[in-house]
Amino acid sequence: MRRIAVMTSGGDAPGMNAAIRAVVRTATAYEMEVYGIRQAYKGLLAGDIERLGNREVSGILQRGGTILQTARNKEFMEEPGQKRGLRRLNEHGIDGLVVIGGDGSLRGAMALCRLGVPVIGIPGSIDNDIYGTDMSIGVDTALNTILDAIDRIRDTATSHERAFLIEAMGRNCGYLAMMSSILGGAEVVHIPERPMDVEQIGQALEDAYLRGKNHAIAVMAEGANPKIYEVKDYLDKSTQVGFEVRVVILGHTQRGGSPTAFDRLLATRMGVKAVQFLNEGKSGVMVGVQGSHIGYVPLEEVVATKRDFDLEKWTEIAHILSR
Ligand code: F6P
Repeated sequence: MRRIAVMTSGGDAPGMNAAIRAVVRTATAYEMEVYGIRQAYKGLLAGDIERLGNREVSGILQRGGTILQTARNKEFMEEPGQKRGLRRLNEHGIDGLVVIGGDGSLRGAMALCRLGVPVIGIPGSIDNDIYGTDMSIGVDTALNTILDAIDRIRDTATSHERAFLIEAMGRNCGYLAMMSSILGGAEVVHIPERPMDVEQIGQALEDAYLRGKNHAIAVMAEGANPKIYEVKDYLDKSTQVGFEVRVVILGHTQRGGSPTAFDRLLATRMGVKAVQFLNEGKSGVMVGVQGSHIGYVPLEEVVATKRDFDLEKWTEIAHILSR
């Protein structure tokens, strides 16, 4: 294998640049040529492909976002789009591909692999919803951003004796909300995997008040129902809760920012490993971290399996520690 390409796809995640850099420099060390595909599958279909050398990835290690940009692309979900993508790769003589992204991006990678392209996936998504790896690139940075926000919000919550509903990202997965609620000392956590109704949320906040707390924080995953403003409306009308209630939606602040040391290290190790796997002739796998070991999992398994983060255990811990 002499010419490989790399792309970042789906939602950007801090650490993607560190992974691109590791891919480019490792490939260069193995005397491979590297091409960067801009804006993921959309750019692949448009032939937006350019040579990346070691100098093109200088000074990007500490930057959030992705220098290759990213996109979500519907056309590539269907076979005609995938075949067009294959033609583009062939036109550029590319005989190996590294895809850095989330679940949908890895599905695209698998489709190309089925068409005969050697492909390695790297999990990049702040949600930590990708099967086959303990952590995905970007999760640690996003968690630290959320914790910083919770710490700040608690200062003002305590000063005014208020309850805050804080929305964390996570469309289908409550990992960020669960972990930030435990590590940020929240009183309530509301996630898609374990929905509560408005009365239960109100009761939990009221219980915190009755236990003598001078603030209460509920971390709510964006994908959890009822949504944050429905809960706020209920609490505003309810005479039950002793606290005045405010809402903070953290939104895309969670996706930006310089990657933490953990994310730089994870992304670097995964980028190096992805190229080593390609060099060894592996394909159709995603690099994953299990404990401290970097290994690989078949992409078929990754996209077919829902990641489980030991919900029972963490729910119990969250409950005990919020007393
Ligand atoms: O998958 C990552 C993520 O940040 C989710 O947590 C969130 O629901 C989604 O992307 C937001 O996507 P977009 O930036 O396209 O609005």
